[in-house]
Amino acid sequence: MAADKERIAQRYSLIAGYLKKELYILLIERKGIAMKKVSVIGAGRLGSATAYTIAQRGIADEIVLVDINRELARGQALDIAQSVARRSDTKVVAGDYGAVSGSDVVVVTCGMPRGAIEHDRMELLEKNKALIKGIADKLKRCAQGAIIITVTNPSDVMNHLVQKTTGFSEKKVMGFGNLLDSARFRQIISERLKCRPMEIEGAYVIGEHGEAMVPLFSNIKINGKVHSFSVKDKSKITKLLKNAAWDIIDIKGATEFGPASCIVDTVGAVLNGTKEILPVSLVQGGASAGILARVGKGGAEPIEMSLDDGGREFFERAKKKIAGYEVSAS
Ligand code: LAC
Repeated sequence: MAADKERIAQRYSLIAGYLKKELYILLIERKGIAMKKVSVIGAGRLGSATAYTIAQRGIADEIVLVDINRELARGQALDIAQSVARRSDTKVVAGDYGAVSGSDVVVVTCGMPRGAIEHDRMELLEKNKALIKGIADKLKRCAQGAIIITVTNPSDVMNHLVQKTTGFSEKKVMGFGNLLDSARFRQIISERLKCRPMEIEGAYVIGEHGEAMVPLFSNIKINGKVHSFSVKDKSKITKLLKNAAWDIIDIKGATEFGPASCIVDTVGAVLNGTKEILPVSLVQGGASAGILARVGKGGAEPIEMSLDDGGREFFERAKKKIAGYEVSAS
């Protein structure tokens, strides 16, 4: 009797195991709960650092690298795939725009980087606009339903161009840069005030990812207490913040790990639906400018920003500056 029961139980557990596997395959094939796919356009220094960071954090099941230089994309994809092969099943491949189809998130990093001559990211506008418009035209067809993160500089203007060209909902197309500025803000404050970065809360930078950036000093808490910054500290910190990327570019030619890490924080918020508050550039009222938003699976939902008078004025000025560089998508 007991042996019979044992046999029946074994048979049922085999059937249950088989069904579980079939269900899992079905869910993956139908792009259900498990499969998370991210495409990175541009396999240069920043694109490959971004793909590498996504792979290391294990937040996606599949990463696709696309570059006009297919061999470069192939080499980077192989290298990144091998970097995770001992620890995860993450698939890392190079492909063309057809392979982008079905992505949850697409990160656009390609274009001319900031070099020795550009003193304002806006100076890259003429060099990058045709390229980004062409890419957005392709994404319109192959990335329906995806969240787009525009990194190529000047990222606010480029983000608006991507949003207009694709026609995707404003909340699904986010310009990148303010989160990186906010990370730098924290690091600079910690050095200036001799405190740990993790003790600092509410240090956000909004407005342009560029010269018209707006660091918000009035909501910053250090060790849980609101900190009142002196005029001298504010001006020193703002100056250091505006030069932060330059200091790195002068030494090593490009910024990579800082932007890649903050891009992947944003990708993770989307894939995992965290709805955390992040500064992102969103198209609102004729221009894409950095604001605070809750970022999750559906994209970015703007939140009410408590700005003091100075902050509001600088934010409006930044928006006006960005709107002045508007590119036609027609
Ligand atoms: C920077 C580039 C990504 O600020 O704009 O590092």
